Amino acid sequence: MTRFDGKVVVLTGAARGLGQATARLLADRGACLALVDIRREEVETLATQLGGSARAFYADLAQVADIRALVGEIVEHFGGVDVLINNAAVCPRIPFEASTERDWERLMSVNAKSQFFLMQAVCPIMRERGGGRIVNVISASGQFGAVANASIYSGTKGAIVAFSKSVAREVVADGIVVNCFSPGTMRTDLITNLSDEQQEQVRQMIPLGRFATAEEMAVNLAFVASDECAFTTGATFDFIGGVLMR
Ligand SMILES: NC(=O)c1ccc[n+]([C@@H]2O[C@H](COP(=O)([O-])OP(=O)(O)OC[C@H]3O[C@@H](n4cnc5c(N)ncnc54)[C@H](O)[C@@H]3O)[C@@H](O)[C@H]2O)c1
Repeated sequence: MTRFDGKVVVLTGAARGLGQATARLLADRGACLALVDIRREEVETLATQLGGSARAFYADLAQVADIRALVGEIVEHFGGVDVLINNAAVCPRIPFEASTERDWERLMSVNAKSQFFLMQAVCPIMRERGGGRIVNVISASGQFGAVANASIYSGTKGAIVAFSKSVAREVVADGIVVNCFSPGTMRTDLITNLSDEQQEQVRQMIPLGRFATAEEMAVNLAFVASDECAFTTGATFDFIGGVLMR
């Protein structure tokens, strides 16, 4: 089992779903956790429950100014950053023809721009410590398209794959690796806006025949974020039940 003793891990979208499951796992494995979310009360409650070295940070990651202030606060508290897990995202269901410029701006900002500028804010700090690990959570829809009215969302996830590879090349000499993590469909808030019928359609597309659990995805995410996953950068790790075979 991979340990994170003494590692400072910044985890976004920590209040719910995959983020919360990952926070619980990494706390058990000894990480010093900077838990970031827009749901202030929930993330504070989680940090209190986890105790030890977990601390809650409130931010709306759509705002670059908030991201820079956030990273400053985290460094002031923990003294540095070893691992960044860019996990926060939203997925409203908006048909293509009903999508507005505002929808585009908000989704691109929360899902993709946040990941880009968080990487930019932590890389100088990681470089000072001799390296670090970044994991950007994407979605299989960023590779083959979304199934139910989520075209902008799938675009945000595809953008992340592309810029992660470019950033991976630019920071590799500093000992920083950047990989993408593609989780399988989980019954979190993100898919509760799908009807039961739509959820069943999605399930039928999964060769392994079931949805993933946030807890099992957290185990895989922890591996990609760990020093054990050493000889790779610019890669995408698929844990999607066989939906995409490559
Ligand atoms: N659930 C799935 O089936 C599925 C499938 C593929 C990929 N993913 C990806 O997994 C990741 C986690 O998703 P989830 O299913 O746990 O979703 P979720 O909705 O349960 O959790 C997302 C978290 O992000 C936070 N968040 C949203 N907007 C924010 C903002 N502006 N600033 C800060 N925090 C914000 C939310 O408060 C929430 O705690 C996402 O990147 C998602 O795209 C999920």
